[in-house]
Amino acid sequence: MAVKIILLPGDGIGPEIVGPAVEVLDAVAPGELEFEQHVFGGACIDAHGTPLTDETLDACRGSDAILLAAVGGPKWDTTDPGRPRPEQGLLALRRGLGLFANLRPVRPVPALYDASPLKRELIERTDLVVVRELTGGIYFGAKTRTHDEASDTCVYTRAEIERIARVAFGAARSRVTSVDKANVLETSRLWREVVHELHGAEFPNVELEHLLVDNAAMRLIAAPRHFDVILTENMFGDILSDEAAMLTGSIGMLPSASLAGGGSAGEPRGVGEPPTPGVFEPVHGSAPDIAGTGAANPLAMLLSAAMMLRHGLAMEAQAAAIESAVDRALAEGLRTPDLGGGASTAEATQAVLQHL
Ligand code: IPM
Ligand code: MG
Repeated sequence: MAVKIILLPGDGIGPEIVGPAVEVLDAVAPGELEFEQHVFGGACIDAHGTPLTDETLDACRGSDAILLAAVGGPKWDTTDPGRPRPEQGLLALRRGLGLFANLRPVRPVPALYDASPLKRELIERTDLVVVRELTGGIYFGAKTRTHDEASDTCVYTRAEIERIARVAFGAARSRVTSVDKANVLETSRLWREVVHELHGAEFPNVELEHLLVDNAAMRLIAAPRHFDVILTENMFGDILSDEAAMLTGSIGMLPSASLAGGGSAGEPRGVGEPPTPGVFEPVHGSAPDIAGTGAANPLAMLLSAAMMLRHGLAMEAQAAAIESAVDRALAEGLRTPDLGGGASTAEATQAVLQHL
């Protein structure tokens, strides 16, 4: 039986980079993957009045993995709390599938050392992963809004912190840096306590350090090689992962995996049930400014497809084939405009296909 992949191209450059991902996946796993595309985000608001339909969420639940490009754009930007936003679809999807563990690896490619705004000596040999809690915190707490006042509530439970910390310790080679704001926030004080306790009880052989988020933001730029696993809550992880993206030269390079556990194919839903499918998506957004110009960098999308093969489908060899084809295409000089070059989306895709 073919492996079923749901494609959610979304908005802006989304549809332009999903096509290349399907081409590359078909090249590494011919005939093995079956694709089903659904409208999502702003495109879904236009078609159905909501950014994620129940039908699409059900299709995702019944699939083996979900490959998502990007959502959002000026057309749907609003500060009116009563109107739907494309991003709500993304949050509903993550939450609806219980994808609490977001992995964002940051490994600058040697060929791109000089494409980063940071000095080569600084970023060389950086190899870190941001493990971001994805279904809790201020993103999902109660919100209020009146004409003159607004509030967002940040809530974390011990169980939510423990399960994401377990993923982080499991992913660590040497060290987990837990990032919080424990000098100010109560949720961060609980976070620190729970991570500390879990470390002592289950992972005493992994080094653990705690950093305040402002200090972590500084050190990420000053000494990125220091980091192995950065474990943090939803909003801090959102911010730090965009910052970390610049170590690779462009946010157009960063893939991500959102999983319901730390295992290679997610955690089983229950006895006899298949694992929860993961969502695999680039860290970048829908780049409405370049949508339709054919200039989008498809590499983060291709690398997300590789993460899908590895973490979602246990197809490690095919995942590694895509990653090394991307590396070799870059080593041969492939540069899209975000990396200071002139290659189009189609040319970048061809360059990767040639190296498979
Ligand atoms: C990300 C994005 C999303 C987030 C937005 C689009 C809701 O920035 O995946 O990092 O904040 O999680
Ligand atoms: Mg973000």
